[in-house]
Amino acid sequence: MTTVGWDPEKYQQFTDERARPAQDLMDRIPQTPANTIVDLGCGAGEQARQLARRWPDATVTGVDSSPEMLARAQADDAQDDTRGIQWMEADIDTWEPPERLDVIYSNAALQWLGHHDELFPVIAGWLNPGGVLAVQMPRNFDAPSHQVMREVAADGAWASRLQGVRDASPVTAPASYYDILHPHVRHLDIWETTYVHVLEGDDPVAHWTRATGLRPFLNALNDDGEREAFFETYAQTLRTHYPQQADGKTLFPFQRLFIVAHR
Ligand SMILES: C[S@@+](CC[C@H](N)C(=O)[O-])C[C@H]1O[C@@H](n2cnc3c(N)ncnc32)[C@H](O)[C@@H]1O
Repeated sequence: MTTVGWDPEKYQQFTDERARPAQDLMDRIPQTPANTIVDLGCGAGEQARQLARRWPDATVTGVDSSPEMLARAQADDAQDDTRGIQWMEADIDTWEPPERLDVIYSNAALQWLGHHDELFPVIAGWLNPGGVLAVQMPRNFDAPSHQVMREVAADGAWASRLQGVRDASPVTAPASYYDILHPHVRHLDIWETTYVHVLEGDDPVAHWTRATGLRPFLNALNDDGEREAFFETYAQTLRTHYPQQADGKTLFPFQRLFIVAHR
């Protein structure tokens, strides 16, 4: 069975909107002295490059499990003036840094891993004293964009094959991250924002999630024909939840959770 890998082209279709929370997170990291920096789930590497520009003398590593995303990051190396970044293909679940870290940045990646009650203390434990862990994750599991995925999955010839796919939110309430992290760090800054993205084109919300949250469902289907049928049903159902405004644009409210922990 073919699988739907991460597609940098599709992911970067909404590049300005996706960059906004990444930047808001970046802006909350103080300019502390840093020699070792990691971007967990670095994708195509834009934020790792930004980290390398902010700390030009630091060793910066971008970790990601997607060869497609890392290939894009490496391809962009040639046109970039930042000093060499190490791109590492690895699963965050099993990867371990070779040395303690001063900055750990992770934008829109850790929601792909479960068991945050175990994962976050491990990651915070990688920090040097004085180091900073900065994480942003979508907290939109109950938004129509995601509820409709589950509804369409439960109602079709594919229902038995899609049972259990992304059926529980890996991202929990802000207070739970406080409880998980506070024994391991000295200061925590936690906040949430709902961005109201203004999107253009037909079915933009469906195209947005096709590059991200919809992938596990598409991957569990048999072939491209079935994937298209699933996508069409999903896109059509979403139209009532995200209608076009009078000017033809579509508003997409998107809730995100931010955590900046200082060790
Ligand atoms: C939504 S993208 C975000 C990419 C980048 N951080 C950004 O903000 O543009 C999520 C990234 O997390 C990576 N990812 C998901 N699960 C992972 C895992 N278990 N280990 C490493 N990377 C993972 C994916 O390959 C993908 O590149």
